[in-house]
Amino acid sequence: MEKSKRVDTLNALNAHLDKGTTADAGGIMRAPMSDFTCPRLLAQEQDVFFRNTPLCMGLSSELPEPNTYWSDDATGTPVLMVRDGDGCFRAYANVCRHRGSRIVAAGRGAKARFTCPFHAWTYGNDGRLLAVNKSRHFGEVPCGEWPLIALPAAEMHGTLWVRPTPGDPIDEDECLAGLQDELIHWRLSDYPFAGRQALDARMNWKLGLDTFGELYHINTLHAQTAAKEVVGDLQTFDGFGKNLRMVAANQKLNLMRMLMPSVERWPYTQITSTLYFLYPNVILVVGGAGVDLFRIFPLEDSTAKSRTIHAWYVDPKIQKHMADNAMSYEDRLGMSMEVVENEDYAVAQEIQINAERGIQSEIVLGRNEAALQHFRNAHRMGLGHDVLPVE
Ligand code: FES
Ligand SMILES: [Fe+2]
Repeated sequence: MEKSKRVDTLNALNAHLDKGTTADAGGIMRAPMSDFTCPRLLAQEQDVFFRNTPLCMGLSSELPEPNTYWSDDATGTPVLMVRDGDGCFRAYANVCRHRGSRIVAAGRGAKARFTCPFHAWTYGNDGRLLAVNKSRHFGEVPCGEWPLIALPAAEMHGTLWVRPTPGDPIDEDECLAGLQDELIHWRLSDYPFAGRQALDARMNWKLGLDTFGELYHINTLHAQTAAKEVVGDLQTFDGFGKNLRMVAANQKLNLMRMLMPSVERWPYTQITSTLYFLYPNVILVVGGAGVDLFRIFPLEDSTAKSRTIHAWYVDPKIQKHMADNAMSYEDRLGMSMEVVENEDYAVAQEIQINAERGIQSEIVLGRNEAALQHFRNAHRMGLGHDVLPVE
């Protein structure tokens, strides 16, 4: 985020604290509870969002140098992402042209050629079929006709995007919708990959997203945990097409207000977390420790199961501090999921059960839950449904 916007944001948070307000969506919104249970809706979401929409997969440092790869199954399609010998980001269906086996096991590494474990056909990271094992026995296979199937892929200002179905190239303006300058200023490619963890939960995938979309619950649900760090019910909100930006403050904001009258001099990343929703299923948070990226997916084609994949990219400035204090990346990863798992997702799983019981048909999203209102309507627009009115 640009310096001037950081100061504007700090001023906005400061003014909200003075006045006892927060970002305001202008009204309340009713949303159908069946969004969490409807199998027809899920089938449409799978088709539109998870097969035919570009998805943010991670930051550029997942593939730190030429001839590195990352094999990932989270979208439901096995995807092989590579940085080729020229440093160019490419993606392929991780499926062998011979008999359809998966070629590269899930994980990351450095390699320029990939050999299928089934009968050892070998492909290059430019997608070409390089060798057919025992080709005299197998029969004539013109290698040029059987490359890996390319998936649309784009590297945009430190982020990696893939559409899991072959087709047109990815359109940057459509994906980022005005967030380009923000991403450029964060210099996201400078944050090294630090680790990844997955959390499966018995709830609709959208309830996972909702966890991140309001701070109204901080002082209640997280009274003994996150509320000690984060200022509850205080946030800014800005929409960028179907994406959004929401900025939260931690308790250091109150300290700054007492100690340092000049907002321009406040250390932005030390006192805020800047959260982006990247349509349709990603939450990216830039904060004091680095970048946390959460990708949330339906699991096993179930309306009631989801998988959240959390990747953390460490701020290069705190890397040394962590090493000096013997702080492990694993500890930081574990800590960051603890509150989500024990508090947020515990409630979300209860909401899922209540939605399944069909006790009530609607939920209501408040003026201070602007991001939740935006998620709903971004998804509805993506699926071609009417948007929900703000009342
Ligand atoms: S399926 Fe890959 S070599 Fe046979
Ligand atoms: Fe929470």
